[in-house]
Amino acid sequence: MSVLSQAARRLVRASVVDARTFTTSTRRLQAEPLQKPVLNKEFKIYRWNPDEPAKKPTLQSYTIDLNQTGPMILDALIKIKNEIDPTLTFRRSCREGICGSCAMNINGQNTLACLCRIDRDASKDSKIYPLPHMYIVKDLVPDLTQFYKQYKSIQPYLQNDNPPEKGEFLQSQEERRKLDGLYECILCACCSTSCPSYWWNQDEYLGPATLMQAYRWIADSRDSNGAKRKEYLQNELSMYRCHTIFNCSRTCPKGLNPAAAIAKIKLELAAD
Ligand code: SF4
Ligand code: SF4
Ligand code: FES
Repeated sequence: MSVLSQAARRLVRASVVDARTFTTSTRRLQAEPLQKPVLNKEFKIYRWNPDEPAKKPTLQSYTIDLNQTGPMILDALIKIKNEIDPTLTFRRSCREGICGSCAMNINGQNTLACLCRIDRDASKDSKIYPLPHMYIVKDLVPDLTQFYKQYKSIQPYLQNDNPPEKGEFLQSQEERRKLDGLYECILCACCSTSCPSYWWNQDEYLGPATLMQAYRWIADSRDSNGAKRKEYLQNELSMYRCHTIFNCSRTCPKGLNPAAAIAKIKLELAAD
């Protein structure tokens, strides 16, 4: 027998032994699945259905096993919708804090459901409401029409009457740094809907999210429309309804500081 065929036999024998070991350990794993204890937690969720307008909003209770769901509030909502109640309505898309869709009020704080960890203390329930002081489309879905209309009103795009003939707008590193902490906003509306001034004057006061974006364009060295942008805010209601209470900055799930941006616009207007 050649050396080569002896080696081949040894290889086959070894792989049969390996396969047996693998099968035995797989069977054992199948027979003894890792059992985590049940950890039931109650979620109380705001429900309102526009198809039943005479019925008042209610808090509906759902109980799920935290050991059978992901770690975030959005995971719990998806589990409830998939396995218990398909009528539960909420927005979500990216599930990683980028799209801003899943903004809601969780245990008293406006935040993103996909970035908010479930409190694993099962003795406490979790209460979930839509963003406060907004018209509701259904359940946890607020109507953001006015919010987007206000955002559109500040013309959130680059305006420059003398663009470079060829190539691109250049900025120094220092000029670019001025946009840090502003451009990261995902327009989730958590800040605006936590602002008492916005609650009571939503028709005229632009609110922290829109004002921070207004400043984002005022601060951009490539934009030449700063004077008009400031003029748009120079009235009693659009910006000066901000009383520097800082609810907005406290609640921002992206760690941004809209109150500081508003203060900077005020400073620039005072200096003009
Ligand atoms: S500033 Fe923060 S809270 Fe406000 S819209 Fe932007 S990301 Fe959301
Ligand atoms: S600092 Fe201004 S924008 Fe922010 S919550 Fe207070 S009043 Fe509203
Ligand atoms: S799902 Fe996109 S921010 Fe939460």
